[in-house]
Amino acid sequence: MSDVVSLIIDGDVGVIKIDNPPVNATSAAVRQGLLQGLEALEQAPKLSAGVIICAGRTFVAGADLKEFGRPPQLPRLPELLDRFERASKPLVAAIHGTALGGGLELALACHARVAQPGARLGLPEVKLGLIPGAGGTQRLPRLVGLERALAMVLGGEPVSAMEAVEAGLVDELAEQDLLEAAVKLASSLARAGRWRRTGDLAVPTPDAGELDKVAGRLLARARGQHAPARARDAVLAAASLPLGEGLALERKLFEECRTDAQSAALRHLFFAERATGKVEGLAAPLNKVAVVGAGTMGSGITIALLDAGIEVVLIDTDADSLERGAARLRTHYQGLVDKGRLGAAQQQALLARLVVATDPREAAAAELVIEAVFEDLSIKQALFATLDEVTAASAWLATNTSYLDVDAIASATQRPDRVLGLHFFSPANVMKLVEVVRARHTSSDALATGVALARRLAKIPVVVSNATGFVGNRMLQAYGRENQQLLLEGATPWQVDAALESWGMAMGPNAVLDLAGMDIGYRARRARTDLPDDPSFFRVADALVEQGRLGRKSGRGNYLYPAEGPRQPDPEVVQLIEAEARRLGIERRVVAETEIVERCILALVNEGARLLEAGVAGSPADIDVIWVNGYGFPRFRGGPMWYAAQRGLTEVVAETRRIGKTQGALYWTPASLLVRLAQSGENLYP
Ligand code: COA
Repeated sequence: MSDVVSLIIDGDVGVIKIDNPPVNATSAAVRQGLLQGLEALEQAPKLSAGVIICAGRTFVAGADLKEFGRPPQLPRLPELLDRFERASKPLVAAIHGTALGGGLELALACHARVAQPGARLGLPEVKLGLIPGAGGTQRLPRLVGLERALAMVLGGEPVSAMEAVEAGLVDELAEQDLLEAAVKLASSLARAGRWRRTGDLAVPTPDAGELDKVAGRLLARARGQHAPARARDAVLAAASLPLGEGLALERKLFEECRTDAQSAALRHLFFAERATGKVEGLAAPLNKVAVVGAGTMGSGITIALLDAGIEVVLIDTDADSLERGAARLRTHYQGLVDKGRLGAAQQQALLARLVVATDPREAAAAELVIEAVFEDLSIKQALFATLDEVTAASAWLATNTSYLDVDAIASATQRPDRVLGLHFFSPANVMKLVEVVRARHTSSDALATGVALARRLAKIPVVVSNATGFVGNRMLQAYGRENQQLLLEGATPWQVDAALESWGMAMGPNAVLDLAGMDIGYRARRARTDLPDDPSFFRVADALVEQGRLGRKSGRGNYLYPAEGPRQPDPEVVQLIEAEARRLGIERRVVAETEIVERCILALVNEGARLLEAGVAGSPADIDVIWVNGYGFPRFRGGPMWYAAQRGLTEVVAETRRIGKTQGALYWTPASLLVRLAQSGENLYP
């Protein structure tokens, strides 16, 4: 029939099989194949029913995202699925893996659904700035009710096969053979001569109060994003409009989403996050890892490793720190047990993979050692010299430093080719990003091993080159510096935070400093010899630390942290800033929100461009992935470099120069990469 869709005869049932790796997306060829398959099935007198099933790892996982932006090809999915729903013979969807987006919509247009117990079903379009566009918002509520449909469409999270059965979305679980179960059900529907079209069902009467609550909660989470509100309008229309009109409204709202810049940004990230893991080199499988340093970072990394089924030796030469680290691990897993998210047997199995020790020689059997000790070059060098002696020559040695020179650390060993950076973000068991740092001598196998490990921990690895602060923290310095400068010029910490949060940043820079602990940056700045010759550089943060204001942990930093209730602005901080500004001869003025956003974000963009030019970052997309996953940059803006590209590099360069007129050339000379691209009319992305 076609390369990607075939029709197989199984008794009186025609099995339409999709085979379009990797995820059976509904590409144009699949849609054409489905239409031909359906026509052949309807025309074959011997066939009384049909089954739709997929080869490979999953049922259809959605529309083909690579086709977005290309001219649409017939048949379009909405019309194809209407045709499926109106088929003259009953159709059963046989679901394994993930039935997502257009895949679930296809299943909804069938007359019954059978799923394997491990299957997951969902409409994740909002995560790509879209809404379901082929009937999902109209058919799903007819099966599961408005409340659950709202939760699934606005939240985008899939449900398990079991939940789908309970909700009425799946008719049967196939404990044994999926195809056999689906064929049996299809035959029985044909024999009975009756089957149900989802679109003909009435939407169960909703509880209006409950609906508002569900929608309100989900929309509050989607701050700044356009798709979830459109998704709500579409789902609610299922109750107030006849199917045809509901489908038309869904289509209109889908089109608005499809052409919205937010969706382009989110689709860019979808592919960028998958591309970062692709490196040359042979990854070594790892079963035994040692983590040195049982502080917050070391314990977080240990949890991530244990969760991935890896054996861990957690080492700290200080017995008290080791005990505190071990206690942190026990508390973490006990917390999960108490919340019912982990069974007692699983907890035991996880902790059985952990050994704790005070002697670095216990790392002897490890295939990889991850160092997470105090950020001090000489301490790290001494440790790496020891690790070089005690571990097998084949072991990989990684440092979790967030800004120190990985070459200098590697030079303490006889195997610099096996030394790399694995820069996790705190809390390491939660944060997705890992910067995999390539030092001068790091081999491609070492990099591939780091990348594969990060993927195994369900993280997003991005390869960066060795440079102070690598990519993320180096850009953070530029962003943070601008924040600090704005404070001296007249802004308050809460004004800067509010401006950037309403622009979409997950948390303003001053609240972040308080959360991380301001003493960390303070100490790092003292240890560095490469800081700019600028008396106002991070002056406010330093003055706060000198007043004992370390952030949340000391109850006060940029804000006050009362024992109860949220953070509070503190007039004392304003006085301190005013005093610093006076000392530096800076006259304070009213600073507008737009100026705050413009300066902080363009500082990020310019620094990102410099890192690209210097080869520290491999691509603009890598920078976007880093800032979205490690620093709370709004996903719907696609990352700092994507933002700059969308805005247009000519404007970005002009604006950078304009700011430079008042702020000086030290920080505000546009990166030559930006100037060159702007002049030649090229962009950052292919
Ligand atoms: N269109 C085109 N390509 C897709 C795709 C889609 N809808 N979904 C996944 N792919 C590609 C990925 O880019 C990746 O390609 P690569 O190997 O060249 O990098 C490959 O399929 C595997 O995807 P990956 O996410 O790495 O595998 P996974 O097993 O971790 O997850 C899914 C599989 C289906 C759960 C996940 O890919 C996903 O969520 N896809 C998007 C689903 C979606 O949003 N559908 C609605 C679209 S409107």
